[in-house]
Amino acid sequence: MHQTTFSNLALPVIVAPMFLVSGPDLVIQCCRSGIVGSFPVLNQRTTEGVDRWLTEIEESLVEQDAPFAVNLIVHKTNHRLEADLNVVVDHKVPIVITSLGAAKEVVDAIHSYGGIVFHDVTTTRFAEKALTAGVDGLIAVCAGAGGHAGTYNPFAFIDELKSLTDKPIIASGCISSGASILAAQAAGADLAYMGTRFIATKESLAGADYKAMLIGSSAKDIVYTPKISGVNANFLEPSIRGGGIDLTTLDVPTMNAETELSGDSKAWKDIWSAGQGVGAISDVALTKDIITNLKSEYRQALDKLNQSARAYR
Ligand SMILES: Cc1cc2nc3c(=O)[nH]c(=O)nc-3n(C[C@H](O)[C@H](O)[C@H](O)COP(=O)(O)O)c2cc1C
Repeated sequence: MHQTTFSNLALPVIVAPMFLVSGPDLVIQCCRSGIVGSFPVLNQRTTEGVDRWLTEIEESLVEQDAPFAVNLIVHKTNHRLEADLNVVVDHKVPIVITSLGAAKEVVDAIHSYGGIVFHDVTTTRFAEKALTAGVDGLIAVCAGAGGHAGTYNPFAFIDELKSLTDKPIIASGCISSGASILAAQAAGADLAYMGTRFIATKESLAGADYKAMLIGSSAKDIVYTPKISGVNANFLEPSIRGGGIDLTTLDVPTMNAETELSGDSKAWKDIWSAGQGVGAISDVALTKDIITNLKSEYRQALDKLNQSARAYR
């Protein structure tokens, strides 16, 4: 584990980058409360905009705060990758999360200034490719996660990834409580990756209707389909129905990182994503209050576990 980057965290948590959801306010509040905040660079329409957001985040944080991360989509359809990467390197962003593809040139560019790279994986084959590209840790995106989710159970997937590498493993999928953060560690992960729990925050960029739908939803409302974005992802069924979309008659579109951003695409903008942990959301809260709760839930879960462990020889 990279000690300098993670030694001052209040909880072993990265708040995941979320398309059209995460911006500087969410990142800053996470880092000030002692957990890693992140945003996908594509949440800014231009590379100049990414530069402005990075400056705003850097100027708002002090040394004692947790480090922050950005997400780069490493995919042939993302024509902004090179320009965005240059800005990330100029700002010496401490942690870079790559998804959809792992490339040695990208990893080398981030290593050149001492940054670290975590890569999002849903299968062991993708993990092997990422390790060959030189990434510093693997994000195990398991079944039920928000966004582009995998299908593996975390117990199986974390163990498989640990058999491949000693590098940090970050568990992703349905982690919504302090007890689940502890469970991720107990299962062998070094850090927990939380997305959905932070969409219904005052600081997120999500609209009021999206946040209200999260409050009214539970695991039964989550649909796993490739038909919205071209890659298997979890979406809120009421937003699919509300958009008049009949999944049975849709073909799977071709994944395109750039057209998903344009006004023509319904994916993410009108069809809203969430993971199966959505049932934990009951209001639109301040990010710092959610993190305060997570810290006390984590402590309580640890005490309870220590107590029950004493019963076994
Ligand atoms: C609305 C939404 C948008 C997302 N967008 C991205 C993204 O742009 N890049 C990325 O790497 N992951 C993205 N994710 C996936 C998260 O990074 C993470 O794997 C997931 O949210 C964790 O599962 P959870 O939501 O159940 O906590 C997104 C997730 C959600 C819910």
